[in-house]
Amino acid sequence: MARTSPNRAVLCATVISALFLLGAAKAPRGKPDAGPAAASAPSVAPLGPGQNIGWAHAPFQSENCAICHERKDPKNPGKITMPVNELCYSCHEEIQDLMQRRPHSHEPARKDCTLCHNPHNAPERKLLVQELTALCFRCHPQTQRDVLGAKVSHMPVTDGDKCMNCHNPHAASVERLLRRMPYDLCVTCHGIDDVRDSRGVKLANIKQVLEEGPVKHGPVASKDCSACHAPHGSPNFRLLFDAYPAEFYAAYDPENYALCFGCHKSELVRDEQTTTLTKFRNGSRNLHFVHVNKAERGRTCRACHETHASRQPHMIRDTVPYGPRGWPLDINFRPLPDGGECARTCHASRTYSTRVVR
Ligand code: HEC
Ligand code: HEC
Ligand code: HEC
Ligand code: HEC
Ligand code: HEC
Ligand code: HEC
Ligand code: HEC
Ligand code: HEC
Ligand code: HEC
Repeated sequence: MARTSPNRAVLCATVISALFLLGAAKAPRGKPDAGPAAASAPSVAPLGPGQNIGWAHAPFQSENCAICHERKDPKNPGKITMPVNELCYSCHEEIQDLMQRRPHSHEPARKDCTLCHNPHNAPERKLLVQELTALCFRCHPQTQRDVLGAKVSHMPVTDGDKCMNCHNPHAASVERLLRRMPYDLCVTCHGIDDVRDSRGVKLANIKQVLEEGPVKHGPVASKDCSACHAPHGSPNFRLLFDAYPAEFYAAYDPENYALCFGCHKSELVRDEQTTTLTKFRNGSRNLHFVHVNKAERGRTCRACHETHASRQPHMIRDTVPYGPRGWPLDINFRPLPDGGECARTCHASRTYSTRVVR
């Protein structure tokens, strides 16, 4: 396929202009079994003058309509000579191969290649009938809402290859048409140092975090980044599926920790006294309550815990940021047989023990 030169486009356009007018007079093309919103699928008749022709298909440029249709005559080419996908596969074996070999194929591609490609010419590269995201949104309105309604957006969804950064439009070895296993997909981009969010804040190199932290959070150990992050966009801080405070200190409200409490019991932080809900207690005094459950400036989980992986046990972080410049101070955590010790960071050395003193 070649980018059409202006001359070429004019020539093609002239040849097919009459046809286009005829085509436009016909009822809009619609296939009842073609997917959720196929009724609004753009026509795949050859584009004519006044339409934005960016690209043309090599066999169409030959002007011999009989390559695919019953007749050579551009004014009256007749039907195509075999079912659409068979026709495409007769020249595009590599796509047929992919569709057959890979376990997860895309329903519209199994049904009809022209749901996305115009076999003649098109405004978009790869003969797409519409701009890529508009094309996908046509049949995936929920994804459209996730992307366009997002308070926190994710750059790869809207930049560069867009949806194709992560998905294959035809077929894939991984579920959800993903190009790689979710974890590998995420760390191809989050395995380097200088990724910055939309405000310019540098994001952690997650691959390095995981390599350096032998203690991994349950869902991270099972390589499930989507357990917490919404890849297309989210109403929450850091693309999280649920709420989690963005700051180091926050007024305590269990709703602000909906993410963590989706998997952990909120009683962990709720009850001042307990002998069962947490091991972070001194006797029956709940130290999660002491640190986190405050009407103002409660410490958030990140004051003590890493989210993805840590070197210290219980996902305790190595350092906490201190002072206006966020100077890193070591957290000297030491596990003890029935509790632990935190030394000389936020306070002088203190130990806790789960043994209940009577
Ligand atoms: C690479 C194969 C190919 C070539 C070459 C080709 N066509 Fe088609 N054409 C198709 C396919 C596929 C369809 C869709 C048919 C269907 O879904 O039933 C189609 C449909 C059409 C339609 C009907 C569009 C509609 O809205 O239903 C027109 C008109 C048309 N072609 C004109 C032409 C003309 C004129 C030429 C030669 C200048 C040409 N085609 C060359 C593959 C081709
Ligand atoms: C007669 C052979 C033939 C048939 C039939 C055919 N194609 Fe093609 N197609 C080609 C050739 C040749 C190219 C240009 C190859 C290239 O540039 O790598 C091409 C290019 C393309 C491209 C763009 C590839 C790129 O890298 O830019 C798409 C998309 C495509 N075809 C889709 C289809 C679809 C969909 C059908 C069925 C409706 C179809 N083709 C039927 C021969 C064919
Ligand atoms: C759901 C939409 C969709 C359907 C259906 C679809 N394609 Fe594609 N196709 C795409 C997109 C998007 C690209 C561009 C991929 C990219 O840029 O990486 C593409 C690219 C291609 C290419 C260019 C090769 C390449 O890897 O870039 C060919 C050839 C092609 N498609 C053929 C087909 C054939 C044959 C069918 C039917 C079996 C088909 N497509 C069905 C969306 C679709
Ligand atoms: C013509 C309608 C149509 C178009 C256009 C379309 N899709 Fe689909 N897509 C479907 C249907 C139908 C399914 C299978 C039903 C389902 O699981 O929702 C599907 C399934 C998927 C799935 C797998 C969902 C799952 O739960 O396994 C992904 C991912 C996907 N599409 C992405 C895309 C992307 C990316 C594009 C744009 C290149 C696109 N789709 C364009 C109709 C379409
Ligand atoms: C950064 C990678 C990435 C990009 C870019 C991306 N997706 Fe996805 N998409 C995913 C992952 C990961 C899943 C699986 C989520 C899960 O399993 O919960 C997914 C799932 C889907 C699904 C299945 C339904 C769902 O939400 O789980 C559809 C449909 C889909 N994506 C469409 C799109 C479309 C359309 C675009 C472009 C606008 C796009 N995706 C861009 C990573 C991505
Ligand atoms: C248990 C839930 C959970 C899982 C699973 C998870 N994350 Fe996170 N992620 C978070 C939370 C919470 C934050 C915000 C951390 C903070 O600011 O303290 C975050 C932050 C991030 C950030 C921004 C880092 C920064 O410097 O602010 C990236 C990038 C990220 N996660 C990628 C990933 C990847 C890749 C995976 C899979 C390996 C993953 N996450 C798995 C909860 C999770
Ligand atoms: C193609 C590259 C690419 C892939 C793949 C990718 N990301 Fe990202 N991600 C980025 C870029 C660039 C940013 C920074 C710009 C932005 O925030 O949108 C980012 C930002 C983020 C953020 C911080 C968003 C914020 O503004 O707070 C999180 C969390 C994140 N990605 C998680 C993931 C997860 C989980 C996956 C796998 C499902 C993933 N990313 C896959 C490129 C990628
Ligand atoms: C998708 C479920 C899920 C979410 C969401 C989640 N966790 Fe976890 N978490 C787990 C699993 C599973 C384990 C491992 C439990 C085990 O090994 O007994 C775990 C373990 C932990 C541990 C280590 C306990 C230990 O003693 O080693 C801490 C600390 C922790 N989570 C904190 C958090 C925080 C903070 C959040 C919110 C930012 C959170 N979790 C969100 C599933 C989750
Ligand atoms: C002041 C430091 C600190 C803060 C803040 C903190 N934790 Fe912990 N957490 C610990 C310590 C220390 C342990 C290890 C207790 C033990 O086993 O000795 C722990 C253990 C855990 C465990 C393992 C089960 C248990 O309770 O024994 C989970 C789950 C957990 N924390 C979740 C959270 C969540 C969710 C938050 C935020 C709402 C949070 N933590 C805030 C220090 C903290």
